[in-house]
Amino acid sequence: MSRRRIIAGNWKMNMTPSQAAELCATLKDLVKNDNVDVVYCVPAIDIVPVAEAVKGTNVKVGAENFYIEDKGAYTGEISAPMLKDAGVEYVIIGHSERREYFKEDDAFLNAKVKKAFEAGLTPILCCGESLELREMDAYLDWIRLQIKSDLVGITADQVKTLVIAYEPIWAIGTGKTASADQAQEVCKAIRDCIAEMYDAPTAEAVRIQYGGSMNAGNAAELLSKPDIDGGLIGGAALKPDFGQIVNA
Ligand code: PGA
Repeated sequence: MSRRRIIAGNWKMNMTPSQAAELCATLKDLVKNDNVDVVYCVPAIDIVPVAEAVKGTNVKVGAENFYIEDKGAYTGEISAPMLKDAGVEYVIIGHSERREYFKEDDAFLNAKVKKAFEAGLTPILCCGESLELREMDAYLDWIRLQIKSDLVGITADQVKTLVIAYEPIWAIGTGKTASADQAQEVCKAIRDCIAEMYDAPTAEAVRIQYGGSMNAGNAAELLSKPDIDGGLIGGAALKPDFGQIVNA
């Protein structure tokens, strides 16, 4: 069975709306590839200009966050139906920066996964271990626990459309990439965990990305591994290098 590749940029808190439109124009021809899903996950304020800028291209728009209620008195928040209406198709959930700085725990992330599906958005669910857990050789248990907790009550049919991003925290923004073998080991463990929780066809269908200092130089090797179906790219998503990753 062949899974369609998915390369997503995570712009984080970068790019003003006018810079966002310029970046889309710079990347437009570089990211053309009909065999890969290409997604820009952008700050909320950039969603509308980016959706406009990528109209008619192969690029899909993603969000970086939302709140779990549909509407109401939640000053400063944005809901999943609002994202959907603005043209968003994917949303990052459980990024380590949100787990750490915004104290989002697995119960809250599980509610976000449910709400994303309810609104018709595809979650890019992130998991990953700290350096300490890796050195204690506890990383696989930790990641299985994250996946199991975040997917409580999610059906097999939903999981078949889900994207999971394995992002070791020690590799994010550090320039220290996991080796292709390290990344493959964990991506395979995630797929095995999905097979245990659901069944083999669901595990075969779910797309698993690697993220953490992926760049134009190391993407091809990481993406050659059998259980790595794509990448979630931070720093390199803001540069022409992103086009080289898409085409790797
Ligand atoms: P990085 O970020 O590519 O800059 O390491 C990846 C991420 O945090 O999604």
